Amino acid sequence: MSRTEENGSSAPDGWTATSATPLRPSTPAHVCIIGAGSSGITAAKALKERGIPFDCFEKSDEIGGNWVFGNKNGMSAAYRDLFINVSRERMAYSDFPMPESYPDFPHHSHIKEYFNAYVDHFGLRETITFETGVERASKREDGAWEITLDTGETRCYDALLVANGHHWNPRWPEPAFPGADTFAGEQLHAHAYVDNSTFVGKDVVVLGMGNSAMDIAVESSYVAANTYLAARHGAWITPKYVFGKPVDQLPNDPRVPLKLRQRLAHQMIKTYIGNPERYGLPKPDHKFGESHPTVSGRILDRIAHGTIAPKPNIATLEDDRVRFVDGSSVHADVIVYCTGYKITFPFFDEALVSAPDNHIELFRRVFHPDMPNLLFIGLLQPLGAIMPIAETQGAWVGDYLLGRYALPPAAELRADIVADQAAMRRRYVTSKRHTIQVDLADYLHALAKERRAGAERARVNGFLPPVHADLLPS
Ligand SMILES: Cc1cc2nc3c(=O)[nH]c(=O)nc-3n(C[C@H](O)[C@H](O)[C@H](O)COP(=O)(O)OP(=O)(O)OC[C@H]3O[C@@H](n4cnc5c(N)ncnc54)[C@H](O)[C@@H]3O)c2cc1C
Ligand SMILES: NC(=O)c1ccc[n+]([C@@H]2O[C@H](COP(=O)([O-])OP(=O)(O)OC[C@H]3O[C@@H](n4cnc5c(N)ncnc54)[C@H](OP(=O)(O)O)[C@@H]3O)[C@@H](O)[C@H]2O)c1
Repeated sequence: MSRTEENGSSAPDGWTATSATPLRPSTPAHVCIIGAGSSGITAAKALKERGIPFDCFEKSDEIGGNWVFGNKNGMSAAYRDLFINVSRERMAYSDFPMPESYPDFPHHSHIKEYFNAYVDHFGLRETITFETGVERASKREDGAWEITLDTGETRCYDALLVANGHHWNPRWPEPAFPGADTFAGEQLHAHAYVDNSTFVGKDVVVLGMGNSAMDIAVESSYVAANTYLAARHGAWITPKYVFGKPVDQLPNDPRVPLKLRQRLAHQMIKTYIGNPERYGLPKPDHKFGESHPTVSGRILDRIAHGTIAPKPNIATLEDDRVRFVDGSSVHADVIVYCTGYKITFPFFDEALVSAPDNHIELFRRVFHPDMPNLLFIGLLQPLGAIMPIAETQGAWVGDYLLGRYALPPAAELRADIVADQAAMRRRYVTSKRHTIQVDLADYLHALAKERRAGAERARVNGFLPPVHADLLPS
């Protein structure tokens, strides 16, 4: 009989690999959190509120991850003039609104300030071990996690919460464009972009149709001699405001069929901006809502003023020129690849956990199907902000670790993952950037239902997640 069955749970097997370690199921699990970005801090809050003992390790000397401009950890993609593209009301945690003095779409410095206020308000700072990276996370024979820190110390935990972010490992074009190794100009990834001061008077080619490309092309357009925006796919550019409101504050009720909401949203965007081809941009090969939203209140304006020239995809790099797939070519001093990010977990053995081409199968984006003591927080690309989702995931995981929620039986859990992946493939344009997509409202609505179902399973079956007796805090 598996350990989980012994505990009367319907959870999938795998919390522990063997039944050698004595269990003390009435004691909360001892948990490790990797990362104190916006996902890690809200998970820490959920565990703290539930009295679950944990250590949260943060590589940097500050909390906030991506939102710390010039972060000492070298992982932040924030540039000097980065502003959020979801509104402050939608990005805030449910029980801690952003100050009303903040604008609708605040600067990264406001966002960092807000996360720090959250940490201090909920007394989380002392629960975080700063300047301490997790170098290795491996499974013990009995299923517990052995965590090796960059201090050289090793500690063991019943459960591991991974909140290491997924926008820090740049994805360069794959394969590299022919001629990339001999190109005379500079090639950089959006992750390394700081500000437009290095573009002054230069010819700049920005590649991509995501939010990094929009921001960087706009910034370049104010100082560069020429700015070209190259893309292989078109996008429905979403303005920040529609009908005088931040666009993400328009009604979006998950009880209304998704297809209908999508049709209405598509019509609204199309009415608002017209056809992207009218601006010289590539024609989108999809409807609005079938790709990660590209939000920009400024790009169309800059194109309309002739300060950004749209181009199709890059074909080759030839000495100091970029040739595009339509045969045209331009002189270029700089190419900025805004080509997205790789989901990476450097602390896991790749054979144990990895995300090739950004694919990773998790139950509702949180639970690893084979290791139910391995949980991921904030590992998704939402239509909306990550923060309120990470907050709910933290609370969900906290309930699970206290035995107030039980996972569905293994077969059901796997079927759920398969259905979820299939629905995402049906909906989104095939791309490495569309592997962890969720709609905030729909995801939270479905999760609330699942949490109720799991609470009932736990009540009926008396699920208690096992803890390893040797790991109990002394
Ligand atoms: C340019 C840009 C703009 C964005 N704008 C928005 C936006 O407007 N709205 C939105 O919702 N999202 C936005 N995002 C998405 C972004 O991922 C989230 O806003 C948010 O940063 C996710 O938080 P996180 O805690 O999951 O990850 P991060 O912010 O990346 O934090 C991860 C933390 O984990 C730590 N860490 C990593 N590895 C280790 C380790 N091995 N040991 C110890 N600590 C470790 C890091 O030091 C870091 O502090 C943007 C992303 C980019 C790149
Ligand atoms: N202001 C803000 O709030 C802000 C600013 C920047 C970024 N962000 C967020 O940060 C995250 C990352 O955004 P991102 O724009 O850096 O990356 P992204 O959303 O992954 O977009 C990558 C873009 O590069 C294209 N691309 C990838 N590989 C390519 C190749 N080999 N050749 C040509 N084109 C290629 C993609 O095209 P396909 O679609 O064809 O794959 C896509 O247009 C997102 O969550 C985004 O919302 C937010």
